[in-house]
Amino acid sequence: MNNNYINKVENTLTLARVKNWQKPKLNESQKFSIIEKIKKKLKSNNAVLVCHFYVDGIIQDLALSTGGVVSDSLEMARFGRDCSQKKIIVAGVRFMGETAKILSPEKKIFMPSFEATCSLDIGCPQNEFNNFCDEHPERTVIVYANTSAAVKARSDWTVTSSCALDIVKHLKEKKIPLIFAPDKHLGSYITKKTGADILNWDGHCVVHDEFKSFELKNLKEKMPDAKVLVHPESPDVVVELADFVGSTSQLLNFSIHSSSNRFIIATDNGLIHAMRKKSPNKSFFEAPTAGNGATCKSCAHCPWMEMNDLNGILSALENSTGEIFVPEEIATKAMVAINKMLDFTK
Ligand code: 13P
Ligand code: SF4
Repeated sequence: MNNNYINKVENTLTLARVKNWQKPKLNESQKFSIIEKIKKKLKSNNAVLVCHFYVDGIIQDLALSTGGVVSDSLEMARFGRDCSQKKIIVAGVRFMGETAKILSPEKKIFMPSFEATCSLDIGCPQNEFNNFCDEHPERTVIVYANTSAAVKARSDWTVTSSCALDIVKHLKEKKIPLIFAPDKHLGSYITKKTGADILNWDGHCVVHDEFKSFELKNLKEKMPDAKVLVHPESPDVVVELADFVGSTSQLLNFSIHSSSNRFIIATDNGLIHAMRKKSPNKSFFEAPTAGNGATCKSCAHCPWMEMNDLNGILSALENSTGEIFVPEEIATKAMVAINKMLDFTK
């Protein structure tokens, strides 16, 4: 990533942290009262809460108890498209809200925080990406779901971490040369696993990029019975230490079905909430995020996912704040790439 993007990511990250610090701290009775209001509003508005595993556990529980969903980004997209409700509250980051809108232009999509973005999205600006693709017209363009609608509109395929390997294997069999953007770690993982001819963009996730292999190796030695579960946005050296690599839903499923009782988790710690709920007798440990003397940028929790809160959900339902719009021309093109993924994985 060049210095402009690094600065933009750092600035946006700082803003998100400040906003998160400034959020009013709710006591238990305030939380209860807002949750009751949200439940009533979801019903009266015929709305549904679609949320990602990285948002606060209280929001995950609320989604599940009101007929919504908590899942990885692929299943969030599918659920939003297939649900009967015409109003969807997407608790996650911007690209997740945009994907819901692109797939269901007739539905109203709201987000608890309009500013919840993603370092991968920031690190892949539309114009630079278009130029990069124009320089390699012979290559098929695959973009990760964690991108803007405009970047998806320039792509031939959209993928998420749960289906990227299968889609790239399919294209490799056809001997098609590829561009993959924006996550360099996921791109490198796919390249190694498939041997496909891939030109990778140089972006990264600020959360997963922080996991440290040396410290993880030490922890593994102290807990040899523990299984190491890693999201593929993590650096190669961390992925190499994994017993299992997969999307958030795939990591959760592994932890449920594994005979092991202890797990070290190299992804956002929001997922551990769902893991503990599904397997209350198993133990889960966060993978180390910082080496000696290093500063911890995310401490295994995405600052943009943290911007989702109960007040934001209530405000979306009561005051229609955070509505997501995607220009029609961009949405129409992006939908082709997203639908290819949904058809391939159905
Ligand atoms: P999943 O599709 O695995 O849920 O990943 C989304 C994401 O943003 C990971 O950082
Ligand atoms: Fe983006 Fe990383 Fe946050 Fe996922 S965890 S939304 S990839 S910054």
